[in-house]
Amino acid sequence: MTYPSVISSKNARKVSTLPAGLDSLRMPEHIAIIMDGNGRWAKAKGLPRSMGHTSGVESLKNTLHLCSDWGIGALTVYAFSTENWSRPSEEVNVLMTLFESVLKRELTNLKLEEVKINFLGDLDPLPIALKELINESVELTKKNKGIRFNVCTNYGGRRELVLAAQKLAERSVKGELDPSCIDENVFASELFTASEVDPDLLIRTSGEKRISNFLLWQLAYAEIHVTDVLWPDFNADALKKALLDYQSRSRRFGGV
Ligand code: FPP
Repeated sequence: MTYPSVISSKNARKVSTLPAGLDSLRMPEHIAIIMDGNGRWAKAKGLPRSMGHTSGVESLKNTLHLCSDWGIGALTVYAFSTENWSRPSEEVNVLMTLFESVLKRELTNLKLEEVKINFLGDLDPLPIALKELINESVELTKKNKGIRFNVCTNYGGRRELVLAAQKLAERSVKGELDPSCIDENVFASELFTASEVDPDLLIRTSGEKRISNFLLWQLAYAEIHVTDVLWPDFNADALKKALLDYQSRSRRFGGV
């Protein structure tokens, strides 16, 4: 596949400037989002749940653009958890097909817009065609210098911690690693997020006040913003509110 090397002015999207009231010097470097409420959004409109997920994709695209335009370094989203396999098989299939079609459709834009995409999670059980697209998109965007976009897919925080512990134990058994040298940095280097800074802000939509097995290690000092807005309705106004909330906090990281 070949890709154009410049964005023609005809195709260039409108860049959104930082809204008044936000302090450009106090923006989070990394935002994590639990995108919740797609099903309830669809139900409230008398639509099938799949339409909630389809609308959720548009919300995600818009949020990625806003984060990129407003100077956020990284956006990490919870797209599919290790627990989501327990949903009815039709819904799991809808989600897998959606991930594949969206990735295929957006790959050129991701490349042109300098987005560096990565997928965090145990990707092995995903459909082969999706895995190939994931590999292609990571490879194609790995040198991009813009926003880092991490998509948690078949991700579970506990599974991630167990896998990291297994890898460290294997290295110790082989004599490559002295167990007494395992500190927080060594441990973090075995997580899916090894090359990423911890999130400063966690946003959860749809009013639920839970972490739901998301980034258990990495969210240790994140500020949490819960909004009642359902994910497909999440927009610039909702993101601005989350950022204002974040900027109103005093971050002490355990100090005084
Ligand atoms: C939670 O809403 C949402 C999900 C489990 C899926 C989120 C996925 C997307 C928005 C698509 C992302 C696409 C790509 C390509 C990364 P829910 O179904 O749990 O809603 P409910 O709690 O109202 O039932």
